[in-house]
Amino acid sequence: MLRLAAAAWLATSALAAPALAADDPLAARGRWSVTTRGSAPLPPMGWNSWNAFGTDVDEAKVLASAQLIVDSGLAAKGYRYVNIDDGWWARRRQSDGRVLIRTDNFPSARTADGATSFRPFTDRLHAMGLKAGIYSEIGRNSCGQIYGDPAGPGQPSGSQAEREIGLYGHIDQDIALYFGEWNFDYIKVDGCGIRALAPDSQQVTSGRLRALAPLIDYDTIPRTNIPAVKALFDEVGRALSRSKPANEFVLSICLWGSADVRSWARTIGNLSRTSEDISPNWERMLHNLDSASRRELYAKPNSWNDPDMLFVGSGEFDDAHLVEARSHMTLWAMLNAPLIIGFDLRKASPAMMGVLGNAQVIALNQDAAANQAVLAYDGDTVQIFVKTLADGTKAVALFNRSGSPVDVKLIAAHLKVRADQPVTLTDLWDGGTRSFTDEMPVHLERHQTLLFKASGARTHPGGLYLSEQPANVNPAVDGVVHPMPDPMIHRGLLPWRSTRADGEHPIYGGWGGARADATPFAQTPKLAGKPYVSAIGTLANSRLEVRNAGFATFTALAGIDDSAADSTARVRFAVYADGKLLQQTDWRKPGDAPVPIAAPVKGARIIELVAQGNRPEMQTVAVDWAEAALDR
Ligand code: GLA
Repeated sequence: MLRLAAAAWLATSALAAPALAADDPLAARGRWSVTTRGSAPLPPMGWNSWNAFGTDVDEAKVLASAQLIVDSGLAAKGYRYVNIDDGWWARRRQSDGRVLIRTDNFPSARTADGATSFRPFTDRLHAMGLKAGIYSEIGRNSCGQIYGDPAGPGQPSGSQAEREIGLYGHIDQDIALYFGEWNFDYIKVDGCGIRALAPDSQQVTSGRLRALAPLIDYDTIPRTNIPAVKALFDEVGRALSRSKPANEFVLSICLWGSADVRSWARTIGNLSRTSEDISPNWERMLHNLDSASRRELYAKPNSWNDPDMLFVGSGEFDDAHLVEARSHMTLWAMLNAPLIIGFDLRKASPAMMGVLGNAQVIALNQDAAANQAVLAYDGDTVQIFVKTLADGTKAVALFNRSGSPVDVKLIAAHLKVRADQPVTLTDLWDGGTRSFTDEMPVHLERHQTLLFKASGARTHPGGLYLSEQPANVNPAVDGVVHPMPDPMIHRGLLPWRSTRADGEHPIYGGWGGARADATPFAQTPKLAGKPYVSAIGTLANSRLEVRNAGFATFTALAGIDDSAADSTARVRFAVYADGKLLQQTDWRKPGDAPVPIAAPVKGARIIELVAQGNRPEMQTVAVDWAEAALDR
C-alpha cells in the first residue's frame, strides 16, 4: 500500500518544473555516475611486492610468489593479480622518453636493442592464468625515490632527467607502453611526486630531484589543488581506455585519502587508497581500517575503498598472532577491500595459507551483492560490522579492537531480523553453528573477531532497506562543500616516530559524508525525537543515486535530523525516477515531523533522492532518509 501523506507533499501533477538548472549538481541525471572505465566488478584479489620486498624487488621473487599462488590453490580461490610495486625501473631514455626496466633484476626484460620489455614477463603470468600489475607515479618521481634511501636497491639511475620515471608529462606515452606494448592488466598510481617536491624540500635543495610545485598539501586540505589532482588521474583513466578499449584494466589510485579523493575516486578509478601505508602492527591496522570503515556508501562495484594491502603473515599478524591475522583478514573481507597479499609466500606456513585461503571469508569479500559492511555498533572497544549478502542473509563480524577480553551482546536488531524468531549462526572460521533469539552473549578475546553467517526472519520482509544495500546507493553529491579531516580515525603510536613531534593528524577528507544507519557525524539518525535503526544519513544539498534492481516501491521518512542546530535551515526532499520528478515535499524545518514518502518506481533503473537546502552552505545540517527501503 502506498501511504501518500497529503499535507507535506505537493501533488506531482501540480508541480512546477523543479527550480534546479540542468547543470546544478542537485539536478537529477537519471544515470549512475560511477566510472565504467576499467574492470573491477568485485574487489580485486592478488599479491603485491611492496610489503614483502619494498624496492628490493626482482623477477625471481615475483615469479616464485606467482607460482606459489597457483600451486597452493590461492589462484583458484580468486587471487589473480600479481603486481610489481616501486623499484622496477632503470631510467627514462632521453632520446625518446621510453622508460627502461632494470634488467639486472628482471632478466627476461632484456632485448637485443636495449629498449627492454616486460612483455615476456606478462606473457609468463598470463600463461599461468594470472594477471599482471605494474606501479607508477603521477608526478615525476616515485615515493621510493623521494622517501627511500637514494643508495638503496631499486632506485632509477642516471641524470636528474633520466631519473624522472613518473607519468608527469608522459601519461599517454607511458600508459601506451605499459598496457599497449607490455600488456599489463592493472596499474597502481602513486602521488608522492605531486606532494613532496616543493622548492625548499630537502630532496630539491640537495639537487637530487627537480622541484614540482606540490598540488597536494598533505597537512592541509584547503591548500590542496583538488581539481588539478583529479584532472591528472582522469587523464590516466582516459589513456588506459585508449590502450585497453575493452576495459580490461584496473586503475588503483594511491593518494592515501588526500586531495578529497573520496569525493571523486568513484568517477575515475577502480580502487582508491583511504589512508597512509599500513604496517604490520595492530595500531596501524586499526588506523587503516578506520579510514575505510565509515565510507560504506563510497565503495561500489568498479570503485572500491582501499585501506591498503594485507599484512597477514608479518609482524603482529604472523604465526604467533593467529587471532590478529584472522581479524585483519576478516575485516578486509567485510569492507570489500581489495585482498592483495603483501607477504613473501615462500615463507608462508600452512596456518597463514589457511588464513589467506579461507574460502568462506573470501566468498564474503567476493559476494555478488557487493555491499561493504555497515557498522551496526560503533565503539572504541568493540565494533559490529554487518554485510548483507546476495542470498539475503548477513555476515556479521564482532571485533574487539582492544588489548583486553570483553563480553558483548549480539542483538537481533544489529542484523535487522526479528527478536521473536530464532537466528541461526555459522562460524566462518571454526565452522560451528549456534542459534539465538533476541540476543546472544559473546565473549571476545583481545583483538579477536568472531565472524558468522547469520539468517533470521527479516524485520522488513517485503524488500531491502537502502542501508542494507550500500552498493546500490551512490552519494553523487553528498553535501560536503569544504572537505574536513575525519576525526574518527585511530591515531596510533608510530613505531618509526615514537612520541617525537605532536603525533599524527590524518587529513583524510571524509568527515560529514553520507552514511548507512548513521548521520554524517556518526550519530544515531533521529527525526522529531525518534531514533531510527535503519536510515541513510546525509547532508542538506545532496543527491543520492539509487540503483533499482526490480523493486516496485520506494518508501522513506524524510526530514532534517535532530542534530541540526541551525533553526533557519530549510530542506525540501524530492524523489526522481530515471530523471523524472515523482514527488517533492514542501520546505521542512528542524524539528518537523518526518514526511512519509511512498513513490512508485516499478521499471525505473535509477532513483534519485535529492535534499535541497535553502542556502548553498549547509554542511552542518544533517538530513535523514529514515527507513528508506525498496519493496517488491
Ligand atoms: C607509497 C605507497 C605504498 C608503496 C610505496 C612505494 O608509500 O603508499 O603503497 O607503493 O609508495 O614507494
